[in-house]
Amino acid sequence: MPLVPMRQILDEAAKGGYGVGAFNVNNMEQIQAIMEAANETNSPVIIQASRGALKYSRMIYLKKLMEAACEEYPHIPVAMHLDHGNSLKTLQEAIDLGFTSVMMDGSLAEDGKTPNTYEQNVEITRKAVELAHPLGITVEGELGCLGGIEDGHGAGLSADQVNDHLTDPRQAEDFVAKTGLDALAVAIGTSHGAYKSGRKDPKTGEVLPPALAMERIHQIHQRMPNCHMVMHGSSSVPKALVDIINQYGGKMPGTFGIPIEQIQDGIKHGVRKINVDTDSRLAITGAIRKVFFEKPEKFDPRDYLKPARDAAKLVYIERMKAFGQAGHAGDYTPMTLDEMKAVYRKAR
Ligand code: G3H
Ligand code: 13P
Ligand code: ZN
Repeated sequence: MPLVPMRQILDEAAKGGYGVGAFNVNNMEQIQAIMEAANETNSPVIIQASRGALKYSRMIYLKKLMEAACEEYPHIPVAMHLDHGNSLKTLQEAIDLGFTSVMMDGSLAEDGKTPNTYEQNVEITRKAVELAHPLGITVEGELGCLGGIEDGHGAGLSADQVNDHLTDPRQAEDFVAKTGLDALAVAIGTSHGAYKSGRKDPKTGEVLPPALAMERIHQIHQRMPNCHMVMHGSSSVPKALVDIINQYGGKMPGTFGIPIEQIQDGIKHGVRKINVDTDSRLAITGAIRKVFFEKPEKFDPRDYLKPARDAAKLVYIERMKAFGQAGHAGDYTPMTLDEMKAVYRKAR
């Protein structure tokens, strides 16, 4: 099956009342693990690559790996999505490479750090839609800013500053109307990486769950029941995975993620795409550390990359089940980009 437009995957998820995991990839093992998980759970899936991933994989390798994935599992609808595109040029590169969906992250300037004004965000996101829709390509935009800067993304806002950059539901309505985007990434207090909570118990020093503004999602859904929302920074950072890393020589104190129940609450209220990267990184790192620690004589990369791939696959399977996409791969006939073009043309 060729890659399908992400818009269709999200529309179908909305019809079925479920969410779809969008998993970040950088290499063959992650792509294989996602596809094996999707095959075993019969799930449609979104695979996404950041700018960093495109650079690391030198673009063409990622393209060919994705082609292989679609060829091996022709019954699985897969969208290939650019994560956090910073300019129209980056979007064009991804489109040229065969991506079926792009994110124009106009919440930030091209440097990926400085918050844009609302007007700048509207303008660049609208231009992204003008570029992508005539080609049948889906567009995700973002309103508000995520917290943290741990992975080099984002405005580096502190927990307090994040509150000033949460998505305003009324502005969201205006943003969607003015840009015509397909999916809206919302800022509700999540951040990228493994340290999502600045809150600590003053007595014990123990990290407390991050305070999320879930009510903003509820309000946006009430205002725009047909708007597909995206939750970034949605790794759950399971303690069990961090414990493996720490048990085998790692040092990751004070981690915290997004509880699955909160994501499920979001899915009940219009969240259709859930971005997960860190959980896969944790699983892979823990599995590799374990081999290095227990079998220091090993030096064949397959001896640790295979367990790493298997560990990532388990995470993907769990998320596919928890988000509800499991069992839905065969619900619909995937659309081509040409068919999607016609849909956008009609809507204009
Ligand atoms: O957007 C955040 C993702 O976790 C991608 O991170 O830029 O390190 O590939 P990356
Ligand atoms: P995590 O760091 O929580 O996995 O978030 C990934 C993400 O939002 C990619 O855009
Ligand atoms: Zn993100």
